[in-house]
Amino acid sequence: MTMFNNTNIKKLSQHETPFYYYDLGVLRQTLEACTNASNQYGFHVHYAMKANFNPRVLDMIRSYGIGADCVSGNEVKAAIEHGFAKEKVVFAGVGKSDKEINLALDADIFCFNVESVQELHIINDLAKAKNKTANVAIRINPNVDAHTHHFITTGLDENKFGINIWQLNDVADALRACPNIQFIGIHFHIGSQITDMEVYKSLCTRINEMQDWFEDHGFQVKILNTGGGLGVDYYNPDTNTFSDFESYFKVFKQFLNVKPGQEVHFELGRALVAQCASLISRVLYVKNGQKKNFLILYAGMTELIRPMLYQAYHVIENLSREEAGSKSQESGQEKSQISNLKSQILNYDVVGPICESTDCFRKDVELSESFRGDLIAIRTAGAYAEVMSSNYNLRDKAQNVYSE
Ligand code: LLP
Repeated sequence: MTMFNNTNIKKLSQHETPFYYYDLGVLRQTLEACTNASNQYGFHVHYAMKANFNPRVLDMIRSYGIGADCVSGNEVKAAIEHGFAKEKVVFAGVGKSDKEINLALDADIFCFNVESVQELHIINDLAKAKNKTANVAIRINPNVDAHTHHFITTGLDENKFGINIWQLNDVADALRACPNIQFIGIHFHIGSQITDMEVYKSLCTRINEMQDWFEDHGFQVKILNTGGGLGVDYYNPDTNTFSDFESYFKVFKQFLNVKPGQEVHFELGRALVAQCASLISRVLYVKNGQKKNFLILYAGMTELIRPMLYQAYHVIENLSREEAGSKSQESGQEKSQISNLKSQILNYDVVGPICESTDCFRKDVELSESFRGDLIAIRTAGAYAEVMSSNYNLRDKAQNVYSE
């Protein structure tokens, strides 16, 4: 399945660029694969809204019965406004402000994922003032290496997230001292873009140890929240349209020690949305140099900062040249017109217009000879792209274009 054919490329070329192109068919297909795989084990999936809070995306995700994992008061507010059931909203974050905690208490959300002993006391005080009891899961830093980029690793002792294992006695004391807190379970999140299932196996072992610890200390663990982090294939967006949800959930089914009455929860972000969008831009200028050729786009780090921040790889295609011709499902005249445009392959540094040297999507990208006005697609831009956009250089916000 490919997102692009001559028909939709023609439609796309009518829009001012840059824009995010959302293929809602791909999103639907991904959500079906995920829910089919999780439902067979009765697992609960929350969508990590931070990956993408585009309203059309949120509406479709909610329609599959998925909950919301939020990391700010505004995300909690948006989840409720978009119709996510409050019983399916969880709130994590290492620095929740009093205002955000109060907002979540007023919304009667399902659970706070608590990241420090001090936070427990603050939630208790704020809940007490409202005569409420807050459900909490303790976010434990399991010291499991996610083997992903160090900027998106969260579960090591050196990371700021969660409560370290050596602090658990303090947690137990605090839980006993906080009458307006109801302990319901334990929460983990070890990092993002994880593709090695062995990592999740190690996480399961650690979760089993931790739930035993809490039960040995007199706490009933109802919820095992394993966090998110399942990766996608940034190199082959067309052949691996969605992640291997079957294998992912199976690891937890096999290795997690789920006791009667316990629920297993997940917080997937990227794996649900990454492949459903591409960032589209026209080529503004082509600079042919002696050492380098530059393809200067009108999209930049303001629309997709992942390559600049995490050295992330995204497939880059020239839709106006060979890519469209070679992948086209169309036949006849249109295809031959595009094929006629096929030309020599050149190496380009594909860059944006922002006044920063780091504003480069990738160096030495092999593309058909490209020209001003060509339509370029940067793939797998559904997660952590639009949400991380900025108006640096006073740029306009990129528009959204939808497949339906
Ligand atoms: N749960 C918690 C507590 C999280 O912090 C995150 C992501 C998730 C779930 C969802 O993780 P996912 O399934 O999407 O991997 N901007 C970076 C990724 C940052 C992830 C932050 N936390 C990137 O573009 O790669």
